[in-house]
Order: sequence, then structure tokens, then C-alpha cells
Amino acid sequence: MTVSSEIKSSARRAAPRRVFLKNYGCQMNVYDGARMLESLTPLGYQRTEDAESADLVILMSCHIRAKAAEKIYSDLGRIRQKKKEGSLVALAGCVAQAEGAESLRRAPVLDIVLGPQSLHKLPQILRRREREGIAETSIETALAADAKFRSLPPRGRASVSAFLTVQEGCDRFCSFCVVPYTRGAEFSRPVMDIIKEAEILALKGAKEIILLGQNVNAYRGRGFKRGEGLWSLARLIKRLAHIPEIRRIRYTTSHPSDMKEDLIRAHQEEEKLMPFLHLPAQSGSERILKAMNRRHDADFYWRIVKRLREARPDIALSSDFIVGFPGETEEDFQKTLALAERVSFAQAYSFKYSPRPGTPAASLDNQIPEETKQERLTRLRLLLDAQQRRFNESFVGRHLPVLLTGAGGGGGRGGGGGREGQIAAKSPYGQSVYLEKEGDSRHLAPGRVSDALITEGYAHALRGRAA
Ligand code: 5AD
Ligand code: SF4
Repeated sequence: MTVSSEIKSSARRAAPRRVFLKNYGCQMNVYDGARMLESLTPLGYQRTEDAESADLVILMSCHIRAKAAEKIYSDLGRIRQKKKEGSLVALAGCVAQAEGAESLRRAPVLDIVLGPQSLHKLPQILRRREREGIAETSIETALAADAKFRSLPPRGRASVSAFLTVQEGCDRFCSFCVVPYTRGAEFSRPVMDIIKEAEILALKGAKEIILLGQNVNAYRGRGFKRGEGLWSLARLIKRLAHIPEIRRIRYTTSHPSDMKEDLIRAHQEEEKLMPFLHLPAQSGSERILKAMNRRHDADFYWRIVKRLREARPDIALSSDFIVGFPGETEEDFQKTLALAERVSFAQAYSFKYSPRPGTPAASLDNQIPEETKQERLTRLRLLLDAQQRRFNESFVGRHLPVLLTGAGGGGGRGGGGGREGQIAAKSPYGQSVYLEKEGDSRHLAPGRVSDALITEGYAHALRGRAA
């Protein structure tokens, strides 16, 4: 590089640049997106909420259901028309991984296509594009999770409740699911790396950490010592609980078959481990669970629930359900309703089955008509919503230690959303709690755990007073 071009390029580096990022997917994407933004700070990028004035637009895509994947393309169409002259558009995440070069055909506006394990390459791609004036699209879709984690810079920021990815990918191959193809094989980060990241998060003000993994309870990470066996998630949680500033620990998402005894016991023994578990059941029918390749039946699920409740009687349970999986009869669906009735969930997500390209279930010929899927979804949601409301209402008049997460707002469906003058908090059971500000509320600073008297329970949140 000549002296004058070096001066020019460093001047370009110093100019403030704006990056817009939108997330379409799960918490793993939220984590990935945040880390990716941090990696752009040395290049002078600052976040903006306005896509039209951004120099770089990043869409963190999700491939899990057709709706999420299609939304990306309609948004890319809009961005194409409104984007700033000369700005770059990047498709990151799971659609990028699944469709790679194909995504260019559908969205020629794309300059960069980055799979979830390649997002650490973004700074390098941007530098190269700038240096060499590359005009064609850069595509990176290698599936190497260890390289990604090794290459990300140390954390620069933390919220009161912070995500920390400990495991990525999935080896279970449920017949409906794209994750093994978009995120690759199971990979557990080494214990040392996770502890370091958790300590940095704690230093930066995190009080709660949410350990993330597509199959997080299958975590098996390399420990400190040579010859020492792999660490389980339970052991990792107990070690992380030694960090004094970290007051609460959660983990998500778990597979019933990996719900091992030491993890169940950790819910009894480890005070910092919150009494909440997201444990997707997907269906209550043996036949459908088998066709889904879940490798457990409804009875197995129920036995785990019983063990968890013995270990931690107040544990709140959450689940995912799919209705209208190929071949699902009314009788199968009744079994899903029966499982939900039996467990009584604190909250749950339910979805219509969406055939995903490349997954075994998509090519089954007994697909269920849309109207039947919709009708079953409505019935299941009615039940799950009633359970959630009942759960929330059961706290009215009771005291809960809530973690203060920030000022008012933050939305929340079902009439429980926060307003100005309220303080957002989180209950041990994962519920959003909105506290009324009364008089001097200086002691209600984000990051504190405060005793709250719950005054109202809504469909999706609680309202209360700092007691
Ligand atoms: N169709 C509908 N829902 C799906 N999920 C995963 N794949 C599909 C699909 N093809 C749901 C599962 C999973 C959650 C993250 O998304 O319930 O647990
Ligand atoms: Fe969506 Fe799954 Fe990718 Fe998360 S890992 S963004 S849920 S496809």
C-alpha cells in the first residue's frame, strides 16, 4: 500500500459508520448478533435503529419455519428500494447457511452472506472489500463453531440479564428440524472459555446469565485438567455459581432425553439456578413422537416432570409444541392436549408444522391440511394461555424476589406491558414483572434483586409493588 492510500484508508476508518441489525430468530441469534456488532466496533461502526441511513444492514435470519425465512426476503425487497447509496447488505444466520448462494438469486441486493459459524469473519470481509474494492458477493458458510468462538473479541458490553452461548449445533436430527443442517454438529465450548466470558459479563454488570445452546443440556465441555472427564451442564452451572456478582443462572433449550439426574439435582441444590425450565415436549402422542424421531414418549416426559417437581416443587415448566405434524390424527392431537393438561405449563410456545426443505418429515406424503393445523393450534393455544394466566394469577398477594432489569416499557402482550413510571423486572419463574414507581425509587436500580408484592397477574406478565 502506498503512503497516500494508507492515509486515505485510515481516514475512511476514522469516519463514523452506522450499522443496522435486525434479528428474526432465537436467543442464539440475539447472542450472535450482539457479538457480531461488538466485533465491528474497532472498524468504527455504531449501531443505528434506522436501516435507511445505515452503511451496513445486517439481517440475522431464522430458517426454523417457512414464515420466518420468507419474511427475510420480503424485508430484503424493501431494503433494496430504500437503502442508502453505496451501503452494504448482509444476510447472516440460518437462512444464509441453508441457502448460501441460492439466496443471491432471490435477493441480488446482498453483498455478504454469512452462516452462523462464520460471523466472526465479518470484520475481515469488510476490511478486504474496502481495501480491494470487491464488488461481488462474499459468501461464508463453513460450519466450524470452535473457530467462531475462538475468533470473537472479548465481550465489551453486558445487560443485567445476559446471554452466554455454551453449546451450539445439534446431533439429534428430529425429523422436522433444520437446526442440525443450519448450525451443524453439537459443539460444547471449553469450560475455561465460558468461565472467562461469564466473569467479564459479571464485571460489566450482568447479574443473571442465561446459558444458551440448541441442545444445552447435552453440554459436555473440556475441563481444566488433562485427563479429566468432560464437564456436564450441572457441573458447569455449579462452577459459574461461584462468581459472586452472578446471582441467577438459567439455561435453554433442553431435550428431554438429555435431562440427566445431576442436572435435575442441581435444581434442588444450587440456589442460584432459577426454578424454571424450558423443556420442549413437541407432542403427547407416542406415534407422532416416534415419527418426529424424538426418541422418547409422553410417559418419559411425564416422569422427568415428576422428578423435577420432587427436586424443586415450585419449578415452572415451559414447552414447545408442534401441531399438524404429518399423519397427526385427532386422537394424536388429543394426546398432546392431555399431556399439556397433565403437566400444566407456566408458559409454552405452539407452532403449526412447517415442512422445511431437506428435512425427512417434509417429504412424508400424509401432510395435514392448513385448516386442520390452524384449528388444532387455536385449541391448544386456548388451553396453554389459560394455564399461563392461571399460573400468573396464582402469585397475586404473594411476595417474590425480582431482578430489576431496567426502566419502564419493554412491551409485553396480554395487558401486562410496562408503562412510563414503571420498573421492569423478572421473577425467578421467568415472568416479566412491572413495578410501580412510588416515591423515592433510587434503591430500585437495575441489577438489584428486590422483594416485590405482586398485585396483578395478566396473561403474559405480573404487576407489583416494591415491598
Ligand atoms: N415446523 C414447526 N415448528 C418447528 N419447530 C422446529 N421445527 C419446526 C417446523 N418444521 C419448533 C419446535 C422447536 C421450536 C424452536 O420450533 O417446537 O422446539
Ligand atoms: Fe432459527 Fe434455529 Fe437458527 Fe435459531 S438456530 S435462528 S431457531 S433456525
